[in-house]
Amino acid sequence: MIAIRICLAALVLSTVCRAEDPAGNTTQDKMPPARQLAAPRLDQPAPLMAALQHRKTSREMGSGPLTEQQISEILWSADGVNRPPNGRTSPSALSVYPVEIYVVLETGIYVYEPSRQELRGVAAGDHRKTMGGQDFAQTAPLNLVFVMDSGKYQANQSTAKSNPEDQMRWASVEAGAQAQNVYLYCAAEKLAAVIRAGVDSAKFAAAAKLRPTQKVIVAQTIGQPR
Ligand SMILES: Cc1cc2nc3c(=O)[nH]c(=O)nc-3n(C[C@H](O)[C@H](O)[C@H](O)COP(=O)(O)O)c2cc1C
Repeated sequence: MIAIRICLAALVLSTVCRAEDPAGNTTQDKMPPARQLAAPRLDQPAPLMAALQHRKTSREMGSGPLTEQQISEILWSADGVNRPPNGRTSPSALSVYPVEIYVVLETGIYVYEPSRQELRGVAAGDHRKTMGGQDFAQTAPLNLVFVMDSGKYQANQSTAKSNPEDQMRWASVEAGAQAQNVYLYCAAEKLAAVIRAGVDSAKFAAAAKLRPTQKVIVAQTIGQPR
C-alpha cells in the first residue's frame, strides 16, 4: 500500500514538473542551465580617452559569435562587482540596484548575476524575434535588456514610499550608465553596439516571464562589426 502511494506521489510530481504551456513546451525544456562566465581581464590596456573618442552607435553588425570572454567582460563592464563588498561598475540610487540585465543569446534568455559573474537561465530557445523590428537585432549574437523591478524599491526601507515616476527616473539613469559602460567596452574592443528603445517589450516580457513589478527600460544590441 505504502509503495503504491509513493508511486502515485512520484507520478503526480513528475506531471507537475513537466507542466506544459500553450505552445506545448514543458517547464523543464524552457530553463537553460546556468552559465558560469569567464573572469574578466582587468589588466587589459584600454585608454579611457581613446574609448570615449571611438564610442558610437553602429548598426553595421553581423551574426558572427562573440567570445565567451567578450560576453563576460561586456556584462562586467555594465554592472559587475568591482570592489568589496558589492560595489558595482555602475551607480544606483541608494544602492538599491533595481535594474537587472537580461541577456538574450541564440541559446536562451538569461539574467546576469553580478555577485557570481554568472548567467542564470530563464527561458531556453532563440527568443531574438522579441527584440523588435530592426533586422540586425534578431540575428545579433547578443542583446541586453535592462529591466527595472519596482519590487526592489518597495522592499527597501529608504525607497519603500517613493513614487513610480521617481523610481522609473532613477532606474533609467542606472540603465543609461550601464549601457554607456557597454558602449565604452565595445569601443575599446572594436565591437558594434546600439542602445535601442525599439524592443518589443510585451513579447519580451512574456518570453522572459517578467513579474508584474518588472518593466523593460531599454535594450542594447552588440555584435561583430561588418
Ligand atoms: C534612449 C535611447 C533610445 C534609442 N533607441 C534606438 C532604437 O530603438 N534603434 C536604434 O537604431 N537606435 C536607437 N538609439 C540610438 C540613437 O539613434 C543614437 O544614439 C543617436 O543617433 C546618436 O548616435 P551615437 O550614439 O552614435 O552618438 C537610441 C538612443 C537612446 C539614447
